[in-house]
Amino acid sequence: MATAAEKLREEVRRRYAESARAVTDGTDGCGCGSGSCCADGGNDRKFGEALYDVEQRGELPAAATLASLGCGNPIAVTELHEGETVLDLGSGGGIDVILSAKRVGPTGTAYGLDMTDEMLALAQQNARDAGVGNVHFLKGIIEQIPLPASSIDVVISNCVINLSTDKAAVLSEIARVLRPGGRVGVSDVVAEDRLGPTERAERGSYVGCIAGALSKGEYVAGLEAAGFEDVSVDFTHGVADGMHAAIVRAQRRQ
Ligand SMILES: C[S@@+](CC[C@H](N)C(=O)[O-])C[C@H]1O[C@@H](n2cnc3c(N)ncnc32)[C@H](O)[C@@H]1O
Repeated sequence: MATAAEKLREEVRRRYAESARAVTDGTDGCGCGSGSCCADGGNDRKFGEALYDVEQRGELPAAATLASLGCGNPIAVTELHEGETVLDLGSGGGIDVILSAKRVGPTGTAYGLDMTDEMLALAQQNARDAGVGNVHFLKGIIEQIPLPASSIDVVISNCVINLSTDKAAVLSEIARVLRPGGRVGVSDVVAEDRLGPTERAERGSYVGCIAGALSKGEYVAGLEAAGFEDVSVDFTHGVADGMHAAIVRAQRRQ
Protein backbone atom coordinates (compact mmCIF):
# COMPACT_ATOMS: atom_id res chain seq x y z
CA MET A 1 0.00 0.00 0.00
CA ALA A 2 1.27 3.48 -0.91
CA THR A 3 2.54 5.63 1.94
CA ALA A 4 1.24 9.17 2.51
CA ALA A 5 4.46 10.53 0.98
CA GLU A 6 4.09 8.33 -2.12
CA LYS A 7 0.47 9.46 -2.56
CA LEU A 8 1.50 13.11 -2.27
CA ARG A 9 4.31 12.66 -4.81
CA GLU A 10 1.85 11.01 -7.22
CA GLU A 11 -0.52 13.96 -6.76
CA VAL A 12 2.36 16.34 -7.62
CA ARG A 13 3.30 14.24 -10.65
CA ARG A 14 -0.29 14.18 -11.94
CA ARG A 15 -0.65 17.94 -11.50
CA TYR A 16 2.51 18.74 -13.45
CA ALA A 17 1.77 16.14 -16.12
CA GLU A 18 -1.51 17.97 -16.68
CA SER A 19 0.32 21.27 -16.90
CA ALA A 20 2.77 19.88 -19.49
CA ARG A 21 -0.13 18.51 -21.55
CA ALA A 22 -1.85 21.91 -21.40
CA VAL A 23 1.23 23.53 -22.96
CA THR A 24 1.69 20.75 -25.54
CA ASP A 25 -2.01 20.84 -26.54
CA GLY A 26 -2.18 24.64 -26.51
CA THR A 27 -4.87 24.65 -23.79
CA ASP A 28 -4.80 25.73 -20.16
CA GLY A 29 -6.25 22.53 -18.78
CA CYS A 30 -5.15 22.72 -15.14
CA GLY A 31 -6.55 26.13 -14.16
CA CYS A 32 -2.99 27.36 -13.79
CA GLY A 33 -3.29 30.96 -14.92
CA SER A 34 -0.63 31.42 -17.62
CA GLY A 35 0.43 27.82 -17.14
CA SER A 36 1.66 28.36 -13.59
CA CYS A 37 0.63 25.44 -11.40
CA CYS A 38 2.82 26.68 -8.57
CA ALA A 39 0.54 29.67 -8.20
CA ASP A 40 -2.78 27.78 -8.07
CA GLY A 41 -3.78 30.16 -10.87
CA GLY A 42 -4.03 33.91 -11.32
CA ASN A 43 -0.67 34.81 -9.76
CA ASP A 44 1.42 35.16 -12.88
CA ARG A 45 3.64 38.09 -11.82
CA LYS A 46 4.91 35.99 -8.89
CA PHE A 47 5.41 32.68 -10.71
CA GLY A 48 6.38 31.71 -14.24
CA GLU A 49 7.73 33.42 -17.33
CA ALA A 50 7.35 37.03 -16.04
CA LEU A 51 10.41 36.38 -13.83
CA TYR A 52 12.70 36.15 -16.90
CA ASP A 53 13.89 39.25 -18.71
CA VAL A 54 13.07 39.96 -22.32
CA GLU A 55 16.58 39.03 -23.48
CA GLN A 56 16.39 35.62 -21.81
CA ARG A 57 12.92 34.96 -23.19
CA GLY A 58 14.26 35.81 -26.64
CA GLU A 59 16.72 32.89 -26.32
CA LEU A 60 13.90 30.38 -25.78
CA PRO A 61 11.18 28.62 -27.81
CA ALA A 62 7.69 29.91 -26.97
CA ALA A 63 6.65 26.58 -25.43
CA ALA A 64 9.57 26.71 -22.98
CA THR A 65 8.57 30.13 -21.64
CA LEU A 66 4.91 29.13 -21.58
CA ALA A 67 5.80 26.05 -19.54
CA SER A 68 7.74 28.10 -16.99
CA LEU A 69 6.36 27.30 -13.55
CA GLY A 70 9.11 28.61 -11.33
CA CYS A 71 9.10 31.24 -8.58
CA GLY A 72 12.37 32.89 -9.56
CA ASN A 73 15.17 32.92 -12.06
CA PRO A 74 18.09 30.82 -10.80
CA ILE A 75 20.14 31.59 -13.93
CA ALA A 76 20.08 35.29 -13.06
CA VAL A 77 21.64 34.71 -9.64
CA THR A 78 23.97 31.79 -10.30
CA GLU A 79 27.22 32.54 -12.03
CA LEU A 80 27.90 29.90 -14.68
CA HIS A 81 31.23 29.50 -16.47
CA GLU A 82 32.20 27.98 -19.83
CA GLY A 83 32.79 24.26 -19.56
CA GLU A 84 30.88 23.71 -16.31
CA THR A 85 28.41 20.91 -15.60
CA VAL A 86 25.03 22.08 -14.29
CA LEU A 87 22.13 20.07 -12.90
CA ASP A 88 18.57 21.45 -12.70
CA LEU A 89 16.37 19.63 -10.18
CA GLY A 90 12.74 19.40 -11.35
CA SER A 91 13.52 20.79 -14.78
CA GLY A 92 9.89 20.95 -16.01
CA GLY A 93 9.65 22.32 -19.56
CA GLY A 94 13.43 22.84 -19.62
CA ILE A 95 13.66 26.65 -19.46
CA ASP A 96 16.58 26.80 -16.99
CA VAL A 97 18.37 23.83 -18.59
CA ILE A 98 18.32 25.52 -22.00
CA LEU A 99 19.54 28.85 -20.58
CA SER A 100 22.25 27.04 -18.58
CA ALA A 101 23.38 25.08 -21.65
CA LYS A 102 23.90 28.36 -23.50
CA ARG A 103 25.88 29.82 -20.57
CA VAL A 104 28.26 26.85 -20.17
CA GLY A 105 28.74 26.53 -23.94
CA PRO A 106 29.59 23.47 -26.03
CA THR A 107 32.37 22.34 -23.66
CA GLY A 108 29.91 22.30 -20.75
CA THR A 109 26.84 20.17 -20.01
CA ALA A 110 23.40 20.90 -18.58
CA TYR A 111 21.35 18.09 -17.05
CA GLY A 112 17.65 18.33 -16.25
CA LEU A 113 16.08 15.86 -13.81
CA ASP A 114 12.32 15.39 -13.56
CA MET A 115 9.97 12.58 -12.55
CA THR A 116 7.14 13.48 -14.96
CA ASP A 117 7.24 11.87 -18.43
CA GLU A 118 5.11 14.61 -20.01
CA MET A 119 7.49 17.32 -18.73
CA LEU A 120 10.55 15.39 -19.96
CA ALA A 121 9.02 15.06 -23.45
CA LEU A 122 8.19 18.79 -23.52
CA ALA A 123 11.69 19.72 -22.34
CA GLN A 124 13.34 17.52 -24.97
CA GLN A 125 11.24 19.11 -27.71
CA ASN A 126 12.04 22.60 -26.37
CA ALA A 127 15.78 21.84 -26.32
CA ARG A 128 15.60 20.62 -29.93
CA ASP A 129 13.69 23.76 -30.93
CA ALA A 130 16.27 25.92 -29.13
CA GLY A 131 19.07 24.15 -31.01
CA VAL A 132 21.08 23.24 -27.91
CA GLY A 133 22.92 19.92 -28.02
CA ASN A 134 24.76 19.92 -24.69
CA VAL A 135 21.68 18.95 -22.64
CA HIS A 136 20.56 15.65 -21.10
CA PHE A 137 17.16 15.11 -19.53
CA LEU A 138 17.01 12.35 -16.94
CA LYS A 139 13.97 10.65 -15.47
CA GLY A 140 14.09 10.26 -11.71
CA ILE A 141 13.34 11.80 -8.36
CA ILE A 142 15.34 14.54 -6.72
CA GLU A 143 15.49 12.50 -3.50
CA GLN A 144 17.64 9.89 -5.37
CA ILE A 145 19.59 11.71 -8.07
CA PRO A 146 20.68 9.27 -10.80
CA LEU A 147 24.18 10.73 -11.19
CA PRO A 148 27.56 9.79 -9.67
CA ALA A 149 29.08 11.51 -6.64
CA SER A 150 31.12 14.70 -7.22
CA SER A 151 30.06 14.92 -10.89
CA ILE A 152 28.39 18.37 -10.91
CA ASP A 153 29.76 21.93 -10.58
CA VAL A 154 26.48 23.77 -10.00
CA VAL A 155 23.03 22.63 -8.89
CA ILE A 156 20.09 24.87 -9.71
CA SER A 157 16.36 24.42 -9.17
CA ASN A 158 13.28 26.56 -9.59
CA CYS A 159 10.36 26.08 -7.24
CA VAL A 160 10.68 22.32 -6.79
CA ILE A 161 12.30 21.54 -3.43
CA ASN A 162 9.14 22.73 -1.64
CA LEU A 163 7.30 19.92 -3.50
CA SER A 164 9.57 17.19 -2.12
CA THR A 165 8.24 14.92 0.59
CA ASP A 166 11.80 14.34 1.91
CA LYS A 167 13.77 17.60 1.94
CA ALA A 168 16.64 16.17 4.00
CA ALA A 169 17.20 13.51 1.31
CA VAL A 170 17.19 16.18 -1.43
CA LEU A 171 19.76 18.35 0.37
CA SER A 172 22.05 15.41 1.06
CA GLU A 173 21.74 14.24 -2.57
CA ILE A 174 22.71 17.75 -3.75
CA ALA A 175 25.79 17.56 -1.52
CA ARG A 176 26.66 14.09 -2.84
CA VAL A 177 26.53 14.97 -6.56
CA LEU A 178 28.37 18.30 -6.18
CA ARG A 179 32.14 18.31 -6.35
CA PRO A 180 33.83 19.76 -3.24
CA GLY A 181 33.52 23.55 -3.53
CA GLY A 182 30.55 23.17 -5.93
CA ARG A 183 27.70 25.67 -5.72
CA VAL A 184 23.98 25.48 -5.26
CA GLY A 185 21.70 28.35 -6.34
CA VAL A 186 17.99 27.67 -6.20
CA SER A 187 14.75 29.62 -6.29
CA ASP A 188 12.11 28.29 -3.96
CA VAL A 189 9.14 29.29 -1.84
CA VAL A 190 10.30 29.84 1.75
CA ALA A 191 8.26 30.66 4.87
CA GLU A 192 9.13 33.15 7.56
CA ASP A 193 10.26 31.34 10.71
CA ARG A 194 7.17 32.53 12.60
CA LEU A 195 4.94 30.21 10.53
CA GLY A 196 4.58 26.59 11.63
CA PRO A 197 3.55 23.81 9.21
CA THR A 198 -0.19 24.30 9.90
CA GLU A 199 -0.02 28.02 9.18
CA ARG A 200 1.89 27.35 5.93
CA ALA A 201 -0.81 24.85 4.87
CA GLU A 202 -3.52 27.44 5.58
CA ARG A 203 -1.94 29.73 2.98
CA GLY A 204 -2.03 27.42 -0.04
CA SER A 205 -1.89 23.85 -1.30
CA TYR A 206 1.04 21.45 -1.40
CA VAL A 207 0.93 21.00 -5.19
CA GLY A 208 0.61 24.80 -5.49
CA CYS A 209 4.10 25.15 -3.91
CA ILE A 210 2.98 26.72 -0.62
CA ALA A 211 2.15 24.11 2.05
CA GLY A 212 5.41 22.15 1.64
CA ALA A 213 7.74 25.15 1.89
CA LEU A 214 10.59 25.08 4.39
CA SER A 215 11.08 28.06 6.70
CA LYS A 216 14.21 30.17 6.30
CA GLY A 217 15.73 28.69 9.48
CA GLU A 218 14.93 25.14 8.37
CA TYR A 219 16.59 25.77 4.97
CA VAL A 220 19.77 27.14 6.54
CA ALA A 221 19.97 24.34 9.14
CA GLY A 222 19.23 21.67 6.51
CA LEU A 223 21.94 22.88 4.15
CA GLU A 224 24.51 23.18 6.94
CA ALA A 225 23.68 19.66 8.17
CA ALA A 226 24.08 18.34 4.60
CA GLY A 227 27.62 19.74 4.35
CA PHE A 228 27.25 23.27 2.97
CA GLU A 229 28.81 26.57 4.03
CA ASP A 230 28.24 30.24 3.10
CA VAL A 231 24.50 29.57 3.18
CA SER A 232 22.16 32.47 2.40
CA VAL A 233 18.39 32.69 1.93
CA ASP A 234 17.19 36.01 0.48
CA PHE A 235 13.50 36.77 0.04
CA THR A 236 12.72 38.32 -3.35
CA HIS A 237 8.94 38.78 -3.42
CA GLY A 238 5.94 37.78 -1.35
CA VAL A 239 3.68 34.97 -2.57
CA ALA A 240 1.35 34.72 0.46
CA ASP A 241 1.17 36.17 3.98
CA GLY A 242 4.58 35.38 5.52
CA MET A 243 5.62 33.28 2.52
CA HIS A 244 8.15 34.44 -0.06
CA ALA A 245 9.90 33.45 -3.24
CA ALA A 246 13.57 33.29 -2.25
CA ILE A 247 17.04 32.76 -3.65
CA VAL A 248 18.96 30.11 -1.71
CA ARG A 249 22.70 29.92 -2.19
CA ALA A 250 25.40 27.74 -0.61
CA GLN A 251 28.76 26.13 -1.32
CA ARG A 252 29.65 22.50 -0.68
CA ARG A 253 32.43 22.28 1.91
CA GLN A 254 35.82 21.35 0.44
C1 LIG B 1 6.72 23.91 -10.21
S1 LIG B 1 7.32 22.92 -11.51
C2 LIG B 1 8.85 23.77 -11.88
C3 LIG B 1 9.42 23.41 -13.21
C4 LIG B 1 10.65 24.21 -13.64
N1 LIG B 1 11.70 24.16 -12.65
C5 LIG B 1 10.32 25.63 -13.97
O1 LIG B 1 10.87 26.56 -13.38
O2 LIG B 1 9.47 25.85 -14.84
C6 LIG B 1 7.86 21.48 -10.65
C7 LIG B 1 8.53 20.40 -11.49
O3 LIG B 1 9.24 19.54 -10.63
C8 LIG B 1 8.93 18.19 -10.90
N2 LIG B 1 9.01 17.48 -9.60
C9 LIG B 1 8.29 17.74 -8.49
N3 LIG B 1 8.68 16.94 -7.48
C10 LIG B 1 9.69 16.17 -7.97
C11 LIG B 1 10.51 15.14 -7.42
N4 LIG B 1 10.37 14.76 -6.16
N5 LIG B 1 11.44 14.57 -8.20
C12 LIG B 1 11.60 14.95 -9.52
N6 LIG B 1 10.85 15.91 -10.10
C13 LIG B 1 9.90 16.51 -9.33
C14 LIG B 1 7.54 18.22 -11.52
O4 LIG B 1 7.35 17.10 -12.36
C15 LIG B 1 7.57 19.54 -12.29
O5 LIG B 1 8.08 19.37 -13.59
